[in-house]
Amino acid sequence: METYLLEWAQLLLRWLHVIVAIAWIGSSFYFVFLDSNLVPPQDPILKDKGVGGEMWAVHGGGFYNPQKYAGAPGNINSTLHWFYWESYATWLSGFGLFSLLYLWQAPTFLIDANVFNWSPQAAGVTALVFLLGFWLVYDRLSRALFNHPQGQAWVGGAVLVLVAALCWLANHLFAGRAAFVIMGATIATTMTANVFFCIIPGQRIVVKALTSGEAYDEKALAFYGLRGKQRSVHNTYFTLPVLFAMLANHESLLVSHPQRWVLLFLMMLAGASIRQFFVQKHAWHLGKSAHPWPYALVGVAIIVGLVVALRPSSVASDANAPAVSLEQVQAIVNQRCISCHGAQVQMKNMRFDSADMISANAQNIYQQAVVLRQMPMNNATGITESERQALGRWYLALQPPVKP
Ligand code: HEC
Repeated sequence: METYLLEWAQLLLRWLHVIVAIAWIGSSFYFVFLDSNLVPPQDPILKDKGVGGEMWAVHGGGFYNPQKYAGAPGNINSTLHWFYWESYATWLSGFGLFSLLYLWQAPTFLIDANVFNWSPQAAGVTALVFLLGFWLVYDRLSRALFNHPQGQAWVGGAVLVLVAALCWLANHLFAGRAAFVIMGATIATTMTANVFFCIIPGQRIVVKALTSGEAYDEKALAFYGLRGKQRSVHNTYFTLPVLFAMLANHESLLVSHPQRWVLLFLMMLAGASIRQFFVQKHAWHLGKSAHPWPYALVGVAIIVGLVVALRPSSVASDANAPAVSLEQVQAIVNQRCISCHGAQVQMKNMRFDSADMISANAQNIYQQAVVLRQMPMNNATGITESERQALGRWYLALQPPVKP
């Protein structure tokens, strides 16, 4: 019963998490797009009102004309909409999901004894240190370099080095799948922390000053605007890498690769580069930035390079290798699989505790244990390379010969 309810909890949280993440990233993309496409207004009335940029758009049958105020708007005589629940809900649901899977079921999902053999408590606490630690270091750096002329570039460089180091560390401490999620969650936590600790508090101070009717120091308020913008720009570059890390954790081609930390880092780099292409592309149309294509090319080159580099080597179809019988396969499966897929435990409703069940699932077994190498889970039962090869030869021999 408990497992059954856990499954539901997991499914519902995942659903919620994706919905609110779409709302968050969607509105974030929209505002970045808006900022890059604003043009100075022609209408003198708008200029007098203090509008610094405007844009025209058509959507869903109506025309929209958003305007951005360069400084303080004269007065806000209607509801002021805020954007923070999308971000908080994404973090809360994501953290809930992470706790349910990786902290609660740490021995199954967080720990891979072949990578690093430690207690669930130590592994869980360390995972949390990742989430918190990255934010603390990044936030200190961003503050320290805020007024530096090349501050943004330095923060960018430092974040790259730090993320590479953390990718390495996470993949040497946690199960591959967990390491990817932890890297995604680490950066995503910083994104929400940016909203929670910097962007929204700054906006509250500004709104309070503007609406209180009291005199305020324009320069002091401008600081909050600039800092909010800085953090929001950082968040933009984090989005694609985070989404990749979150999604790729289901892709065993990557998460079970011996050099997976490099793959993860390169793919996140490709994501940030492609995001830069889109950010710059909007502004480039208006002549506000350099040509964006190099960024897209770097991103695509990395992806294509990895697709080529990771192409599967086919199972050795050594003509001299002995044929593998069903009995031999059954012996391997009994030893390596049925502790999780037998009469007592049936992970993912899969049972292989009879020759018939094995034959019926031949393709599944081949796919999971030979092609994807995802099973046995974290290789908990210590399957050997030659056993994988044997499963592969058995399965391939069952296939009808390919006609020339
Ligand atoms: C330590 C436990 C464990 C062992 C041992 C194990 N598995 Fe699994 N297996 C799992 C879990 C957990 C899942 C569900 C994974 C998920 O939800 O992503 C699973 C899922 C599967 C699936 C379904 C995959 C899918 O997503 O459709 C297949 C097929 C499978 N295992 C085959 C095998 C084979 C073959 C072996 C032995 C070579 C094996 N398993 C050994 C835990 C194990």
